[in-house]
Amino acid sequence: MKILSVVGARPNFVKIAPLIREMSRRPQIETVLVHTGQHYDARMSDGFFEALSIPAPDVNLGVGSGSHAQQTAEVMRTFEPVLEAIRPDVVLVVGDVNSTAAAALVAVKLGVRVGHVEAGLRSFDRSMPEEINRLVTDAIADDLFATEESAVMNLAREGVPAERVHFVGNVMIDALRLARPDWQATRVFEELGLDRRAPYGVVTLHRPANVDDPRRLRDFVLALQEVAATVPLILPVHPRVRTRLARERVTWLTAGQPMPANGLVCVEPLGYLDFVGLVSHARLVLTDSGGVQEETTMLGIPCLTLRENTERPVTVTHGTNRVIGVSPRRIVEEGLRALSTPPAPQTPPPLWDGYAAGRIVDVLLGVAIEAAA
Ligand code: UD1
Ligand code: UDP
Repeated sequence: MKILSVVGARPNFVKIAPLIREMSRRPQIETVLVHTGQHYDARMSDGFFEALSIPAPDVNLGVGSGSHAQQTAEVMRTFEPVLEAIRPDVVLVVGDVNSTAAAALVAVKLGVRVGHVEAGLRSFDRSMPEEINRLVTDAIADDLFATEESAVMNLAREGVPAERVHFVGNVMIDALRLARPDWQATRVFEELGLDRRAPYGVVTLHRPANVDDPRRLRDFVLALQEVAATVPLILPVHPRVRTRLARERVTWLTAGQPMPANGLVCVEPLGYLDFVGLVSHARLVLTDSGGVQEETTMLGIPCLTLRENTERPVTVTHGTNRVIGVSPRRIVEEGLRALSTPPAPQTPPPLWDGYAAGRIVDVLLGVAIEAAA
């Protein structure tokens, strides 16, 4: 059985790592990996392949950045001949980025089965580009792999036949489990000049709704600086935000400089092992990332989500996540409160046991047997 997996952006690399590992253990599977090139900086792409032991992609489409239409169209245009040449039995797409939806569209039109990992999540906010990608991908995929029960319910409500939906758990948590010894051994504390026992927080921001409007971004920076009056808040800067953040009065930490005792401190995007290692000892995380809401839930680190909604409600009901919106006053209040309150113990969400990839591959193999019969 030939399975072609498609990745394009940072969170995709984390999700595909346990799947590629699992597929390579099954002798009946031939794996092909296509990188669309949506993310291309070493710190956003190559570093993840290395840290997560993902083999180099068989094909890189090199699409790069562009408007949504350009990027989506470029993935479709360049992926079609690759798919025609390789003719896999299944195309596996993960997450909700432009590469996910574009590759799924190409595959389904060439009559290739599509598996969508992380199907059914809904923020119910169509101004979010990812929500459109999720709706499009789920509407056309054949096998929908859900991370949480809310996703199964959303798909049922949308009329997806139950036999296509598989509640398997979360490959992001598989990645976290598999890489545990490596992120526990991170040298990020030495590199940042940070004492892992001292209180600090971690911030990530990259949603267009939060960072593309300079006023909104300034409000965030001011609120975060207030929270950071007594502890450092470390912000690994996503490339989308770099230029805009350069206009704000923020501190950039460069190699060899000591970590300030407080304040909002910007650093380059961190590698996966360094980032998770840093988060694992943090007192608090403030984020608008999807994946980080899930990782903090598993690590038991308090997480404040700087958005009006989440497509991952299980991180709130079972995890450490609180969706607090974007009001600067609320960010300051909740941030200061979280810093002074010890985290409550949590039980992990159902099936977030680190073995989702095995379940997904089992389903795919079952599908192949049915198709051949
Ligand atoms: C994309 C995904 C988003 C995901 C995020 C993960 C879409 C619509 N968005 O957002 O869902 O949460 O990745 O990080 O698919 N850039 C670089 N170097 C890179 C990549 C990007 O400089 O390696 C800069 C470019 O200026 C680019 C901008 O970042 O225009 C945005 O990149 P893009 O991939 O379009 O969207 P993200 O904001 O990264
Ligand atoms: N991440 C990382 N370095 C960073 C910031 C995030 O390795 O500096 C990892 C994080 O641990 C998670 C993934 O990137 O596994 C999440 O990606 P991102 O926040 O870019 O996308 P989203 O999940 O919001 O789609």
